[in-house]
Amino acid sequence: MRNAAEHHHHLRCFLITFTFLPLLTTSTDLITPTKPLTQDHTLVSAAQQFELGFFPGASSTWYVGIWYKNIPERVVVWVANRDSPLTNSSGVLKFSPDGSGLILSDHSGTSVWSANHSANSGTTIAVLLDTGNFVVREEDDEDPENYLWQSFDHPTDTLLPGMKLGWDSKTGLNRYLTSWKSADDPSTGDFAFKLDISGYPEIHLTNKGNMYYRSGPWNGLRFSGVPEMRPSSPLLSFQFVRNTEQISYSFTQLNESMHSRLLVKHNGVLQRFIWIPSSGIWNPFWYAPKDQCDDYRECGVYGICDANASPVCKCMKAFRPKNPQAWNLRDGSDGCVRATELDCDSDGFLAMSGVKLPESGNAFVDAEIGLDRCREMCQRNCSCRGYSSANISDGSGCVMWAEDLYDMRQYAAAEGGGQDFYYRVPASELAAPAASEAGGDSNKTRLTIMITGIVVGSAALLVGFAIFLAQKKHQSETVNILERRGSRERSQDYLANSPTIPSKRDQPGEAAVDELELPLYDITALVAATNEFSDESKLGQGGFGIVYKGVLAEGQEVAVKRLSKTSVQGVEEFKNEVKLIARLQHRNLVRLLGCCVEMEEKMLVYEYLENKSLDSILFKKNRSSMLEWQTRFKIVCGIARGLLYLHQDSRFRIIHRDLKASNILLDKDMDPKISDFGMARIFGGDQTEANTKRVVGTYGYMSPEYAMDGLFSTKSDVFSFGVLVLEIVSGTKNRGFYQTHNQLNLLAYAWKLYREGRALEVVDSAVGERYAAGEVMRCIQVGLLCVQEHAEDRPNMSNVVLMLSSDFVSMQQPKYPGYCLGRRPNETDSSLRRNDDESCTVNQVTVTMLDGR
Ligand SMILES: *[C@@H]1O[C@H](CO)[C@@H](O)[C@H](O)[C@H]1NC(C)=O
Ligand SMILES: *[C@@H]1O[C@H](CO)[C@@H](O)[C@H](O)[C@H]1NC(C)=O
Ligand SMILES: *[C@@H]1O[C@H](CO)[C@@H](O)[C@H](O)[C@H]1NC(C)=O
Ligand SMILES: *[C@@H]1O[C@H](CO)[C@@H](O)[C@H](O)[C@H]1NC(C)=O
Ligand SMILES: *[C@@H]1O[C@H](CO)[C@@H](O)[C@H](O)[C@H]1NC(C)=O
Repeated sequence: MRNAAEHHHHLRCFLITFTFLPLLTTSTDLITPTKPLTQDHTLVSAAQQFELGFFPGASSTWYVGIWYKNIPERVVVWVANRDSPLTNSSGVLKFSPDGSGLILSDHSGTSVWSANHSANSGTTIAVLLDTGNFVVREEDDEDPENYLWQSFDHPTDTLLPGMKLGWDSKTGLNRYLTSWKSADDPSTGDFAFKLDISGYPEIHLTNKGNMYYRSGPWNGLRFSGVPEMRPSSPLLSFQFVRNTEQISYSFTQLNESMHSRLLVKHNGVLQRFIWIPSSGIWNPFWYAPKDQCDDYRECGVYGICDANASPVCKCMKAFRPKNPQAWNLRDGSDGCVRATELDCDSDGFLAMSGVKLPESGNAFVDAEIGLDRCREMCQRNCSCRGYSSANISDGSGCVMWAEDLYDMRQYAAAEGGGQDFYYRVPASELAAPAASEAGGDSNKTRLTIMITGIVVGSAALLVGFAIFLAQKKHQSETVNILERRGSRERSQDYLANSPTIPSKRDQPGEAAVDELELPLYDITALVAATNEFSDESKLGQGGFGIVYKGVLAEGQEVAVKRLSKTSVQGVEEFKNEVKLIARLQHRNLVRLLGCCVEMEEKMLVYEYLENKSLDSILFKKNRSSMLEWQTRFKIVCGIARGLLYLHQDSRFRIIHRDLKASNILLDKDMDPKISDFGMARIFGGDQTEANTKRVVGTYGYMSPEYAMDGLFSTKSDVFSFGVLVLEIVSGTKNRGFYQTHNQLNLLAYAWKLYREGRALEVVDSAVGERYAAGEVMRCIQVGLLCVQEHAEDRPNMSNVVLMLSSDFVSMQQPKYPGYCLGRRPNETDSSLRRNDDESCTVNQVTVTMLDGR
């Protein structure tokens, strides 16, 4: 009771202090010619929304800027003198004596920054408004919005509600955002977000002036390439104005109690944050670029990118890949060429729906005519390549493209993005529907045949691999290396020991093998690179071998996996991995650079990733605080995208089978990459699940149906993913599918807390207090959905990606997780046999414990 009373007393004091605070301090919202602003004061907007004052940057530099008044951590939204800092905190912001503008001067009185405006007669004042706009106006102007100067016209890296990006005829300014140089250096960085007002306007994200992402043009409802912009959003509304006075983009926040800002971060990511007052966090709400298909011109001219397909690039119908070889290696940048030339008069149009419109800086817009007239006009003009409606909200207007089409992408119906687009094709393509859809298809079919063959049996696997090596011989560069080093015979020895190499090439799939340009590394180079496989270069123990860090002669850093010579399993896994991963290219999969096969040595050479494996940080007390929430969320989303890529290939489906924290590698930006495909399986055609006698995997990550019955499918990977998500949120390792000491394992624990409405208690204390509660909850729920006991209840990866990326997707309530079904393997049980490989047998299936570290 006493404690409670004391508590009340304190609370009251606290409230009283706060109520009087504004009266005690002499904060003001304006600067006048007689009242300058010095470093020991700030301006505060009338309703206490924003504050303007002096703030320190890195290495004893000082700036004048604006930040939120009521948000504890200072978030600077505007900087006056970003490129001319004060050298210490002494400075003054005042009107120049001649009244021509505001001047910021340093301790010696030298002006470092100024806000000039046209001459005027009356007294000028500078006011900080509650919108965050800092304006200069005449004190007794009848129109208080007749600004002589405003900070909203000179944005730095942040777009606030009501602030306009783009062109204004009155000032002649095209306002745009530019990133900071680094997190604590506000000077002008390399990245800009700028409205391109030519043609059919769209916004470009540029790096040193080079475009790397485009929003797509405004189509009346949203930017054509930003499906997440919903006119029905309860939080935000977006405005785009295009008339003779202005071409501008802005947004409004609909709930006064929230703050929203759009910012170009110093690393070039465009991100929107929303402040959630109840939880006191900035929730990352949206960002771009999001995926491979957001990368500018990912699929080249007349290519179309589909993030849900694999490979992501395909040619528009009636086109074929210009460079089939590069195309098969998943490099679509050369784009596509017409299968048949245009004729002009007899040409017609094909329709596509749900697409991001092509680059439209040179497109021609006629807002007056409708779609039918648009088609006629496009038909008549031989240089017209395609057309669309200019405003999809009412289907009005006409846009025509008279140049080659670039940078389109396809959205899935569920994403609700994109729109209809019509493009010109010769009459022959209209007559033969589907005959030549996506020129790349024939190659892909061949690949499928071969890949399916591999799954059928390990003999096929060996043969395929032998062909692969045999082909290598014919590549001049490889031959050179091998001859120079005198290791050619050794490689051939290896080949001679392989099963028969077919003399006749009657398998169409072999063409795909030809095109697989995977460099063979020479063993002496790798020995030198890894300092003779010294202990110091050792990075860790992967499945079936030790991984070393290497530095090649050219200085390139690599990771070399040396398969253990004694491991019989290793040979299979090696070939499997080489074949598989060489064909995979995704930013969330580790990249295989080449391999080395000499005598009984088998090695894989990968890109080196600076931050090593996730488990080396996540489960280490002293390092786990490196992973703040935003990083963890990024890792979860990245793994999800990588796995989606593996699973959702329409032609062959790859099951990783050993997803776990130690198989997630982190690059220098902490972007995750899935590694270790030694156990992956490829499914062809409609196959969705398979059964194996040899269960490989890691305790704690294996789904019940896989661990118990050897049944694996994409859903067993989804299970492992769910475990991984819960581990990332909690910083705790899941202990296996059986219980020990009557303690709950992680899944059971998370499930228990979730059901009791205490899910957030599972969050790793190393994350600290600052995390996006909404996102955390979403992750926990996704994690629990993924680890549900019954495979059919678990979501697939495309659902997972969708659930992770949006607040608006409704999620089911998770059911009971799958765990602790099995009896605890008893050390004395006769069905359990330990051997050197740390594997044991449960119910006649071999379980390899790879995670025994
Ligand atoms: C800033 O530097 C000047 C000159 O070095 C010095 O006179 C002044 O006191 C300094 N101001 C502060 C606040 O340290
Ligand atoms: C503002 O005016 C001052 C003096 O007239 C000049 O030195 C300065 O370059 C001007 N600044 C801008 C941004 O035009
Ligand atoms: C698109 O059409 C709607 C409905 O007629 C209209 O309100 C909107 O202003 C138009 N948008 C543009 C950019 O013209
Ligand atoms: C605004 O957001 C607050 C906090 O989330 C919420 O309580 C309130 O209902 C919202 N107001 C409106 C009008 O949506
Ligand atoms: C065809 O369209 C282009 C681009 O809109 C235009 O420059 C050209 O004048 C048009 N040609 C004809 C014959 O209308």
